[in-house]
Amino acid sequence: MTALVTGGTHGIGYAVVEELAELGAAVHTCSRNESELNHRLQEWSSKGFTVTGSVCDAASRPQREQLLEKVSSIFNGKLNILINNVGTNIVKPNLEYTAEEYSLIMATNLESCYHISQLSHPLLKASGFGSIVFISSVAGSLHVNYTSIYGLTKAAMNQLAKNLACEWAKDNIRSNSVAPGCTRTPLVERLFNNHDEFINTLVSKTPLKRIAEANEVSSMVAFLCMPAASYITGQTILVDGGFSKHTTGGGCFLFPARSKRQQALAPLLPVDRSTRGSHTQTPISFAFCRERRSKRSCRSRPLATPVVDNNHQFPPLLPPTLLDLLSATRTMRPEDHRS
Ligand SMILES: NC(=O)c1ccc[n+]([C@@H]2O[C@H](COP(=O)([O-])OP(=O)(O)OC[C@H]3O[C@@H](n4cnc5c(N)ncnc54)[C@H](OP(=O)(O)O)[C@@H]3O)[C@@H](O)[C@H]2O)c1
Repeated sequence: MTALVTGGTHGIGYAVVEELAELGAAVHTCSRNESELNHRLQEWSSKGFTVTGSVCDAASRPQREQLLEKVSSIFNGKLNILINNVGTNIVKPNLEYTAEEYSLIMATNLESCYHISQLSHPLLKASGFGSIVFISSVAGSLHVNYTSIYGLTKAAMNQLAKNLACEWAKDNIRSNSVAPGCTRTPLVERLFNNHDEFINTLVSKTPLKRIAEANEVSSMVAFLCMPAASYITGQTILVDGGFSKHTTGGGCFLFPARSKRQQALAPLLPVDRSTRGSHTQTPISFAFCRERRSKRSCRSRPLATPVVDNNHQFPPLLPPTLLDLLSATRTMRPEDHRS
């Protein structure tokens, strides 16, 4: 089993390299910082992992071509797994982005994974069964304020995963997106340094009441590359502690430091004030509510019923998605699984 993980020296990419290497894959990774890369390669070698690396700026087209030439020569023209992980973000209001910042985020997040997927196609096809995983973000599915360029690159990645799933299925290549919520990595520490308020607000809107660890994302990435996931393609799987399912989290999450006026203008979702206790419900919070029910009540109650309040008649919900079912299963307590 051979794998290319872009941006594997720290954060989520690092956790993915470790996860795949532990499962026995020969992994190649890249980053821009040569000394850190060499340090990581030594570390992995001492753990007995088969990991090689290249210095490569994934935002550079010629360097991407060199990277894939190297990967092809190391793995004899065959690649089973491609993890498009490299990504960056600049947090600011939409009107303040410069042309250079736009180009940097687009090149790093989107153009890189688009081109690396193209370059990898012959290798993935030659391996007989290929799997591509794009590391997207909840910001590609929801509005997260002050990340408009980042969000659009991640939404485009989700769409690319779907397109490739359909186009390359004939070559036995699957393609999926994993969309993490806020995850403890150097990127997040850099972006939100001195922004405790942001993290605290985010945690308060996350049902699991914490941000993710990188290995909680890498486990889903590894699963999607396994034969166990052989029928899963074209999906975007959110690994977000339920954030996207929460009434006040999913849909519109605002960066803090808002004025009172901005808060008043925030596009709040309709709320059912007739629900029990202080918890409010909208259709998107249903999966969350479902997860909190006991096994018995899950069985005895319909999975989804429209919520009605004084002002709003919600349309019937669609049947539960794979994501709903996965997240419901994952958050059950061990005793819930016993019959
Ligand atoms: N952390 C989160 O909360 C979060 C949430 C949702 C999605 N994500 C996504 O997850 C992915 C990884 O994020 P992370 O938080 O783990 O980031 P990170 O901590 O900054 O790690 C990024 C990794 O990619 C490398 N890298 C960055 N830019 C590169 C480039 N242009 N060329 C080659 N390598 C590059 C970095 O090494 P060098 O800097 O040395 O090159 C590092 O190894 C990103 O796509 C991000 O958008 C993260």
